[in-house]
Amino acid sequence: MLTLGIETSCDETSVAVYDPSRGVLSNAVFSQIDLHKAFGGVMPEMASRSQLERIAPVMRSALSDAAVTLEDITTIALTTGPGLPGSLLVGLCFGKAIAWARGKRLIGVDHHEGHAYSSFLENDVPFPHLCLTASGGHTSIHLIRGFGDYHTVSHTLDDAAGEAFDKIAKLLGLPYPGGPVIEQYARRVGFEDFFSYPRGKPEMLNFSFSGLKTAVLYDLVDRGAYDMKHRILLDSSELLKQQVASSLLVCVAAIFARKLRLALAEYPEAKAVTFVGGVACNRYIRRMLQSMCDDRGIRFFVPSPQYCTDNAAMIAFVGNYRAERGEVAGWNLDIF
Ligand code: KG4
Ligand code: ZN
Repeated sequence: MLTLGIETSCDETSVAVYDPSRGVLSNAVFSQIDLHKAFGGVMPEMASRSQLERIAPVMRSALSDAAVTLEDITTIALTTGPGLPGSLLVGLCFGKAIAWARGKRLIGVDHHEGHAYSSFLENDVPFPHLCLTASGGHTSIHLIRGFGDYHTVSHTLDDAAGEAFDKIAKLLGLPYPGGPVIEQYARRVGFEDFFSYPRGKPEMLNFSFSGLKTAVLYDLVDRGAYDMKHRILLDSSELLKQQVASSLLVCVAAIFARKLRLALAEYPEAKAVTFVGGVACNRYIRRMLQSMCDDRGIRFFVPSPQYCTDNAAMIAFVGNYRAERGEVAGWNLDIF
């Protein structure tokens, strides 16, 4: 009963093989980051072309890494959205064609649902639990009561946390994606809070990161480090970038901890906290949230980095439990 997962929602082409009794057998990923670096963000047209070039070789790698063939696969689970339409369509058409030609069950998976259950790939997480998802397109907290049974506790009113890292890194002239670079720069100055950026409304459960981006910008202007008129950084010293990166990271970690504390107070039945999505790769934020949970005697789970960023293993996992319930899609399955 193997499931082949396909994830092509943005700038990663990923195919995985999942076995319900043995777990993830393979998770092949091709990342387009180098392709988009020159543009400081993802170029949708280039992303979909690259998906088209890579999808077949990435699937062959996934099958050979798992030491299986297409014959062994029973279910094809693919991401139907949200994401870049051109990229999503590649995975949809590719997966649907194989499912039709080879007589496999077809399942459409929501990308966010994939992230939400990614912590199950390596752990047995108890229900109910709170899941903080933080990626380039999404920041939210869900109360997860079971497989496919979740309730949105909080979401972002504007930008996602990863997007804030990416945009502020761009402002500082640092490469895309911003999150990993911000972490490197912050580490050099010991994760200290130099500039005390605003943490937002303390009692609000929802997230808002566009104000933080503006606050960083105006703080740089006040320091004479940024020229608003010509949109250029006047002080491009490494030290300033490190201090901004460090203050930003401390601020985001504090916001996450505060929202989770509020959510835990509102949902005392939660037995654990999970932290998922690309931003969950961040070791400083992981540490801060781990210690917040330790203080409260709550278990904390975070996937290893390969399952935090976009990957097909999480899609195959959700596809597997949907298939077990018979929630199979028709041939009219489409992206959203
Ligand atoms: O989950 P993901 O791979 O793709 C989306 O579904 O968006 O997340 C990508 C986001 C990017 O914004 C990136 O800057 C952020 O995750 N990210 C990080 C780190 N690694 C990736 N943010 C903070 N610290 C990191 N180490
Ligand atoms: Zn994602």
